[in-house]
Amino acid sequence: MSGEAPAQALRALLEAGGDAWPGPIEHHGVLGSTNDRLKDWARQGAPALAAVLADVQEAGRGRLGRSWTSPPGNLYLSVLLRPEPGQVGLVPLLGGVATSSALAALGAQVLLKWPNDVLVGERKLAGVLAEASSGARGVEWVVLGIGVNVDPQGALPEHATSLREATGRVISPLAVAAAVLAQIRLWYHALASGRTTDLLAAWRERSIPWWGRLVEARVGDQLIRGIATDIDDEGALLLALPDGRSVRVISGEVSRVRLASGDGAAPRSRSD
Ligand code: BTN
Repeated sequence: MSGEAPAQALRALLEAGGDAWPGPIEHHGVLGSTNDRLKDWARQGAPALAAVLADVQEAGRGRLGRSWTSPPGNLYLSVLLRPEPGQVGLVPLLGGVATSSALAALGAQVLLKWPNDVLVGERKLAGVLAEASSGARGVEWVVLGIGVNVDPQGALPEHATSLREATGRVISPLAVAAAVLAQIRLWYHALASGRTTDLLAAWRERSIPWWGRLVEARVGDQLIRGIATDIDDEGALLLALPDGRSVRVISGEVSRVRLASGDGAAPRSRSD
C-alpha cells in the first residue's frame, strides 16, 4: 500500500532545510525491496532522482547476494541516478559518502569501509546497494539503495548497530531520509559537474585509515591479501601484493588482517 502523507512530509523537511527535492517520491508501508520497486519504475521511464521509501521490506537485499534485515523503525530508501558512462564506478562511493555525511551530521561517529559500509566502531550502521542497468549505450541508470538502522523495532544481526544506540537520540526515519537525500543531491550534482576529485577526497576523508595495512579482499570465492594503498579514480580499491604487483579490486568484501603478535604465527583474519 502506498501513501502520500510520508512523501509530502519528507518533501516538507527537505524544503525547510533549503534542499527542495527535484524528483518524484513514492512511499510504501510495506515493500519487498525499495530497489526492486524503483528498478521497475526506472524501466517504465522514471526520471533521475525518483525516490522510493518504505517502512518495512519483506525481501530487503544487501551486497554480495546477502539479505538485509528490514524491521519497522529503520530507513529503506532507493534513488534513481543517471550518471555519465565514465562515472558509474563512482556511484557506490557516492552512496557511501552521502550516507556517512548525513549520519555524521546527525551525531554518529561513522567511518566508511570500502566501498560503502557505514560503521560505528566495528558495527554496521548503514549499507548501500548500487544496481545498474545497461542498454545499447552502456549503463543507462543506477538504483542506489540505502538502508540505515535508525531505531529498529525488531532484532538486527549481531554485528549491526543503530542510530539510536550510536547517538542516544531518537531520530525519525523521515528526518534521516531528508538528511541522506540532501547529501545525495549534493554529490550527484558534484559528479554531474565533473567534480570527481572532490568526491574521492570526501570518501578518503571518511574512510577507515587502513592505508599501509594488510587487508584481505574476498572477491567471489577468491581471497586476495595485500597492503591497502589507495582507491583509484574509478573507485577501485588498490592492493599491493607481496610480489610487488598492484591489484584493483572492483567489488567484494574487505577486512583487516590482524597478525598474531610477535610470535611468527600464521596471520589470522578477522572479518568485520
Ligand atoms: C549492504 O549489504 O550493506 C547493502 C544494504 C542495502 C540495503 C538497502 S535497504 C533499501 C534498498 N533496498 C534493498 O533491498 N536494499 C537496499
